[in-house]
Amino acid sequence: MLLDLLKKRSSVRNFIDKDIPDEIINYILEAGRISPSGGNEQPWKFGVINNQELIRKISEIAYNQKWIRNANLLIVLCTYIVSDERGGRDIQKARFPELEHEIEKMDKELYSKLNQEEHQTKIVGTHMVLAALEHGIGSTWVSYFKVDQLSKLLGLPESYIPAEIIAFGYPNDEMKVTKKKSIDEIIFYNSEFTEETER
Ligand SMILES: Cc1cc2nc3c(=O)[nH]c(=O)nc-3n(C[C@H](O)[C@H](O)[C@H](O)COP(=O)(O)O)c2cc1C
Repeated sequence: MLLDLLKKRSSVRNFIDKDIPDEIINYILEAGRISPSGGNEQPWKFGVINNQELIRKISEIAYNQKWIRNANLLIVLCTYIVSDERGGRDIQKARFPELEHEIEKMDKELYSKLNQEEHQTKIVGTHMVLAALEHGIGSTWVSYFKVDQLSKLLGLPESYIPAEIIAFGYPNDEMKVTKKKSIDEIIFYNSEFTEETER
């Protein structure tokens, strides 16, 4: 059952030194490939990083998160920037009509950087993490990194941006499930978002 798998997942940052077989890497990539996306645009490229020297450099770019060095595999989820030309700004104006004027005034470069289709790769990553877990492989998402430096390191063209890194490997110790909020704390029905719900 899917919920059983979901309940087993927790972030893993301590990995053993064991390569992930190619067929499992392909399984993980395939799980990402079939993700949904707005308009089925699939605005992504998946960087498969299995070179240890490159992994070390990426750990430095990720504000020196040293644990990343132990990962056997990084997948960098890259997404292209929905430029003004492709109607990206219009979508944002439609979503936030009260800010239409401000969105219109935003500097083009800043707008592009802030409006990458990052949210789309979150679904890809979720598929990948679960596909990996099915094969006993742990993972952790990494968003805390210098985007420009990683772009340069991977040789990405200007139209693409690295949105997420996911670090994969076989866990060194038993995975401990992280405590989550209870259902009561996070749901509300219909229009009943009360002050109590907010806390
Ligand atoms: C979008 C996203 C970005 C994250 N970035 C980092 C990161 O840069 N470094 C890190 O160690 N963990 C990172 N994490 C892992 C979170 O800290 C972790 O998911 C959270 O503490 C909940 O624990 P769990 O994954 O075990 O449920 C990230 C998680 C998500 C979903």
